Amino acid sequence: MIALARPDITELEIELVNRVLRSDSLSMGQMTRDFEAALASYVGAPHAVAVSSGTAGLHCLVRALGIGAGDEVITASFSFVASSNVILYEGACPVFVDVEPRYLCLDPDLVEAAVTPRTRAILAVDAFGHPCRLDRLGEIAARRGLHLIDDACEALGAALGDLRLGNPRLATGAVFAFYPNKQITTGEGGMIVTGDDDLARLCRSLRNQGRGEGEAWLCHERLGYNYRLDELSAAVGLGQLRRIEELLAKRDRVASLYHARLAAVRGVTPPPVAPGVRMSWFVYVVRLDPAVDRDAVMARLAERGIPSRPYFQPIHLQPFYRERFGFRGGELPVTEAAGRSGLALPFHGRMTAGDVDLVVSALEEELGRC
Ligand SMILES: Cc1ncc(COP(=O)(O)O)c(C=O)c1O
Repeated sequence: MIALARPDITELEIELVNRVLRSDSLSMGQMTRDFEAALASYVGAPHAVAVSSGTAGLHCLVRALGIGAGDEVITASFSFVASSNVILYEGACPVFVDVEPRYLCLDPDLVEAAVTPRTRAILAVDAFGHPCRLDRLGEIAARRGLHLIDDACEALGAALGDLRLGNPRLATGAVFAFYPNKQITTGEGGMIVTGDDDLARLCRSLRNQGRGEGEAWLCHERLGYNYRLDELSAAVGLGQLRRIEELLAKRDRVASLYHARLAAVRGVTPPPVAPGVRMSWFVYVVRLDPAVDRDAVMARLAERGIPSRPYFQPIHLQPFYRERFGFRGGELPVTEAAGRSGLALPFHGRMTAGDVDLVVSALEEELGRC
């Protein structure tokens, strides 16, 4: 049975979790501090703040940056709904701009054109593990006096030139997520990274019920949240992070197998990678020719025991966003076309060449029948 996604857990993670279970410290302890320090060092950021999910991390950053009612944040609709919801949590307005057609990341020219006097930030999304043009977005942000938030929830390990995402030279702050289908997992979890001391301090406070420095237990300096990561999850994360190069290499290998096997298949475009970037493969999303009935292909693959799914469905076309903002479709043509044609194939680091061959052979046959 081929899985759409699978975590990769070894005795190392189990041993670290056991160590936590044998200790008296199950929350906000040494494991969390070690995980934060290891991740900060991995991405080259002075600060890392562990949180209970990627969504929680993005919410903390938006709030800590003081973004609120009346503010606009330019962002991508080609994303998971959380990246835009966090803007709404604070009463600010997401302004969606289209992505560029090849790599499906925010189009910097469209971002620049969308800046208004109310714009406070750009929230970029490194879709599927492919870094955005953070260099160009950073230049726009600096020139227009905006914050740049990098939603790198899908992209731990990706790099732009020599800089890993999360490096403070690339954004005001970045967030990674560790759901079980991600490059590394903690079950549920996330991490904020930043080079800004005050921002880091504020995020630490927000994730811990608004407690101040020293985290005196019954002193709440501001409205905060329980967005803490527990020690068991941090232990899994620390073990996974120690194995990150192995985990990324395994995913690279599977992506290469797909690329090679798909090269001669008609009707499918494998995901391209821009020159000068290091892709960190989160999912493997091919694009089907527009004439192909994607739902029919998915249904036939499912009958053969091969799971697949559309990826992403544009945020602005979600029922809640249509209702609230009046989107009807046609506003973001590139995003919408990518949403219609994308198909995520089974993808995880433990897939064999035989698994990849089985998936692609089935896809090839089903496309031939369409
Ligand atoms: C682009 C993006 N942003 C935010 C999130 C939210 O992360 P979490 O599910 O950990 O809250 C995800 C999760 O998959 C994501 O893919």
